[in-house]
Amino acid sequence: MNLRAPKGTRDVLPEEAAMRRKLESIFADICGRYGFGEIRTPTFEHTEVFVRGVGGSSDIVRKEMYTFLDKGDRSITLRPEGTAAVVRAFVEQGMASWPSPVKLWYNMNMFRYERMQKGRYREHNQIGCEIFGSESPMADAELIGLLDTFFRELGIKETELHINSIGCPICRVDYEKALRDYFRPYLDEMCDDCTERFEKNPLRMLDCKVIKCQEIAVEAPAPLDALCDDCRDHFDAVTSYLEALDIPYCVNLRLVRGLDYYTRTVFEFVSPNVGTQGSICGGGRYDGLIAELGGADIPGVGFALGIERLLLELEAQGVLPDTDNPPSLYIASFESTAAEALKLAQTLIRQGFSVATDVIGKSLRAQMKAADKLGVTYIVVLGDFELEQGIVNVRRLSDGEEQSCALTELGDFLESAVGAD
Ligand code: HAM
Repeated sequence: MNLRAPKGTRDVLPEEAAMRRKLESIFADICGRYGFGEIRTPTFEHTEVFVRGVGGSSDIVRKEMYTFLDKGDRSITLRPEGTAAVVRAFVEQGMASWPSPVKLWYNMNMFRYERMQKGRYREHNQIGCEIFGSESPMADAELIGLLDTFFRELGIKETELHINSIGCPICRVDYEKALRDYFRPYLDEMCDDCTERFEKNPLRMLDCKVIKCQEIAVEAPAPLDALCDDCRDHFDAVTSYLEALDIPYCVNLRLVRGLDYYTRTVFEFVSPNVGTQGSICGGGRYDGLIAELGGADIPGVGFALGIERLLLELEAQGVLPDTDNPPSLYIASFESTAAEALKLAQTLIRQGFSVATDVIGKSLRAQMKAADKLGVTYIVVLGDFELEQGIVNVRRLSDGEEQSCALTELGDFLESAVGAD
């Protein structure tokens, strides 16, 4: 019997959950300011969505999908990434008739059967954005600008933006031929994955993680040198918009990204702090994907950012968000006043205060200790006498200062005192 969490999954405990909630709410707020609406797609899709969407030469489709037959014999796959799923929804929900561009953001868990490593899990969370309906490099720049805004608000400094263009299906024909011509003499020395990529998608041979393959790829022709005029102009415009937005970038000639749908712009924010993977966030343009999934010929561009890797990055840079939110008041009670204490706590909580009370039946001494551990600001002891008088002594834990306060005015007291702290 195995009663442990499955390999590659993690329990998120309250402290981390609070941190995630904070990051997610900052991201949601920024997306709202940029005019994005939220989308939530199902946790699983028909396998075809990802096979056609992400592409047969990607590692995701070749070896990482959680795919199974449901009881109706349909092939179902747990969402390994968001873009194909969001595009499926775009087509199915007729969003092509919405005012263009359609701008969507999401916060969804993803499933990939990968080898566990620092920053790499079998279930992870991505926050991401997609813009449908704009071929303009302005859309690429706006998305990168949104990420830059997010990182600034979080206080992240050391990540680097790597950007490249992998061209369109037109320039890709000649480029793939040039790549195959280059790699053919080395095939015997390259890894099995690269041999397979040689046939299916030689571009991916540029970002193989095997050292020997990397050494061979150093001299390979770069996608940027093979762009057609339109793609070159597009890339130059993206970088000039980034300069206008004051966003530093580094052109990475080997960056191709691991999903087959990309066209033209590809980018990643990379950092040494997030494990061998290095990327916190990845994205790019996918101008053919909507048509591939049965929609009209509508361009798209987007990115996704891994929450787990973002947390590693924030921790490494010492800028984890502050989430301490201890209850402001602890109401200690006795057996005879326990019900009144619960009621008072409920009243104050309903007024919007954060209040703790004993729900175990602890001694007064143990309740005091508990209040101290929780880090509350104030403590009151509600005994029979206090109840009779309708007055309590409110003690500030930091300096022991006490003030008496009518029970009916505790809310007002907390309002002014907590606000003033
Ligand atoms: P991706 O690069 O495969 O792109 O994943 C996006 C981000 O998710 C990565 O940069 C990383 O932070 C995080 N991530 C990926 N796999 C794992 C894992 N196993 N464990 C932890 N974190 C992980 C996409 O998925 C594209 N859909 C991004 C995109 C959106 N492109 C256009 N629009």
